[in-house]
Amino acid sequence: MRFIRKQIFSFPLFPKAAPPYCCMAIQTLTSSAPTTTDAINEGDDDRLCVEQPEPQQEAEPEDAPATGRPFGYLTGEARIERAWSHWKKIGQPKFLVAPMVDNSELPFRMLCRKYGADGAYTPMLHSRIFSENEKYRSEEFTTCKEDRPLFVQFCANNPDTLLAAARRVEPYCDYVDINLGCPQRIARRGNYGAFLMDNLPLVKSLVEKLACNLQVPVSCKIRLFPKLEDTISYAKMLEEAGCALLAVHGRTRDEKDGRKFRANWSAIKAVKDAVRIPVLANGNIRYMDDVWSCLEETGVQGVLSAESLLENPALFAGYETAEWASDSERNCVDGKLDQADLVVEYLKLCEKYPVPWRMIRSHVHKMLGDWFRIQPNVREDLNAQHKLTFEFLFDVVNRLKEHGVRIPLYVKDGSVEQISANGTVP
Ligand SMILES: Cc1cc2nc3c(=O)[nH]c(=O)nc-3n(C[C@H](O)[C@H](O)[C@H](O)COP(=O)(O)O)c2cc1C
Repeated sequence: MRFIRKQIFSFPLFPKAAPPYCCMAIQTLTSSAPTTTDAINEGDDDRLCVEQPEPQQEAEPEDAPATGRPFGYLTGEARIERAWSHWKKIGQPKFLVAPMVDNSELPFRMLCRKYGADGAYTPMLHSRIFSENEKYRSEEFTTCKEDRPLFVQFCANNPDTLLAAARRVEPYCDYVDINLGCPQRIARRGNYGAFLMDNLPLVKSLVEKLACNLQVPVSCKIRLFPKLEDTISYAKMLEEAGCALLAVHGRTRDEKDGRKFRANWSAIKAVKDAVRIPVLANGNIRYMDDVWSCLEETGVQGVLSAESLLENPALFAGYETAEWASDSERNCVDGKLDQADLVVEYLKLCEKYPVPWRMIRSHVHKMLGDWFRIQPNVREDLNAQHKLTFEFLFDVVNRLKEHGVRIPLYVKDGSVEQISANGTVP
């Protein structure tokens, strides 16, 4: 049975309507919520971690301010110039948090931003559910004014539905991104993500629809085709359709396991050389040396990291886990920061920016994985906890610390002083 829940933050859907962007809201649930497998689970663990006061009224999407002609109406050279001027205007981010379902949510993005990320993607949002369902919108998309540059990612297979969803977020982001890379079974069943690689006319129509109707540019995140020439024609088609930025995950649709298959940076370089819009690389970014190598080898504008950031959100600030520090011949020293510290910072951000508990649970497991391996009893207690509280989670961290086992994050050459002096990366 569904039940009524209170809205948390008021959410001015368009900046004109009210002062600064605050978090989107938990909204009254209704019986019209979707029941697909993509829809929200309803377990206790899915509830937002903080209840908040009554909402203000949302403005209607039609109130969106018009700030110029949509990108897609430009042609040829002007379009490429606009893609670059937008990229420069947002500060040319180099170190980006990749889109991650249930994992690149607002507090995690803010944690990564504090530690060097200069751009971030939201988790993939389902365009149909997003455009239809208030509860989904309010739980799955939250942002704040410091959460920029921001890419909001959707999966879609219907241009009108995608546009309806995109219109709701465009005032709050720098790109609306289309997920063309998800290789999971759920994407096959839903006919989105990497499975749209079998229907390129549909992909083209999705990009064109957004490019011709949104004020913010459209970006796409793609995977490789097995043949390089197919990937290149694909990238050129996207550019031609109005895509203003391309993120290339250097693996094919069948190469699902990132640990088993190394990303193909030379294919990313070939795409970068073939198109004229800004390109980002994704895959094999585990610590900063990978970032610099990737930028040099591919010539891309920036990199996305996913799995490694989950374990170490301070990656872009130059911190690395023992796994990589011990693997190298470089002189790595204790960075005076560890994953338990990062979990505490993350939990405080969650108190400030409420998100469903399942996301918090997932991050605690990923950041403290190595610590739990040493103290499995603490992990078991966490797993046994059906309903989480911040008090319980802070206590988990304290218990891990009390046992005197500390696993530091490492830095090269003492560069940490620069970072910790003001809490951010220089
Ligand atoms: C937990 C998790 C969730 C993910 N969700 C998404 C998603 O919502 N959209 C997307 O395009 N890719 C998603 N990905 C893929 C990543 O964005 C990225 O392309 C992939 O993990 C390769 O990067 P990596 O080698 O740095 O992990 C996800 C990956 C992980 C680990």
